[in-house]
Amino acid sequence: MSLSSPSSFGPANGKPVLVVATNNQHKLAEIKAIIGHSFDVKGLADIGCHDDIPETADTLAGNAEIKARYVKDKYGLECIADDTGLIVDGLGGEPGVRSARYAGPGHDSKANMELLLDRMVGLHDRSARFVTVVALTLADGGIKFFEGTVEGHISASPHGSAGFGYDPVFVPREAPGLTFAEMSTESKNAISHRGRAIRALADYLLR
Ligand code: IMP
Repeated sequence: MSLSSPSSFGPANGKPVLVVATNNQHKLAEIKAIIGHSFDVKGLADIGCHDDIPETADTLAGNAEIKARYVKDKYGLECIADDTGLIVDGLGGEPGVRSARYAGPGHDSKANMELLLDRMVGLHDRSARFVTVVALTLADGGIKFFEGTVEGHISASPHGSAGFGYDPVFVPREAPGLTFAEMSTESKNAISHRGRAIRALADYLLR
């Protein structure tokens, strides 16, 4: 396994440290719930990084790679980064790779969701999917990717207060009638894009 030594961060209960290139506490909590029993999951703040890493690629894989390589280049640590997009069929795949900044720079998730619902008024086809790409840096300088997808549709209005981002408007096919924001972290992780990608990563690291 090509992960950093736990000793660089102090006690880690004997578990290998897995650095995740994010300061999104919701993402970290989801990732910890999925693989925290096998890995000591650390966010950027835990390694003293408070940088806003620019996501300048035009693909999810490209942005995940930028974030993972940034940490490796600056801190010398193997790390993972995830990038997620919401693909809405009736909008030609939007917001896609622009999901985080759909409503423009400086706008939050609520503004992104409101813009999405506005653009979908009158749309018959509300089918959508979340796609997550996870990039893992390798000791030989390479990168390995893992992908996870969840199919569903966009509700007419937001429901629920759990989760983050577009969760209040995304209804997964496996739990009809509930948005991700109405589900527990455990139930969301069991079927979500990120859950699937992170489990594929864990299978690889623990093989
Ligand atoms: P990023 O992967 O952090 O760049 O996320 C891109 C955009 O998708 C952001 O607006 C996030 O809030 C949103 N997003 C990422 N993951 C999820 C999720 O699991 N549920 C809902 N929205 C998400």
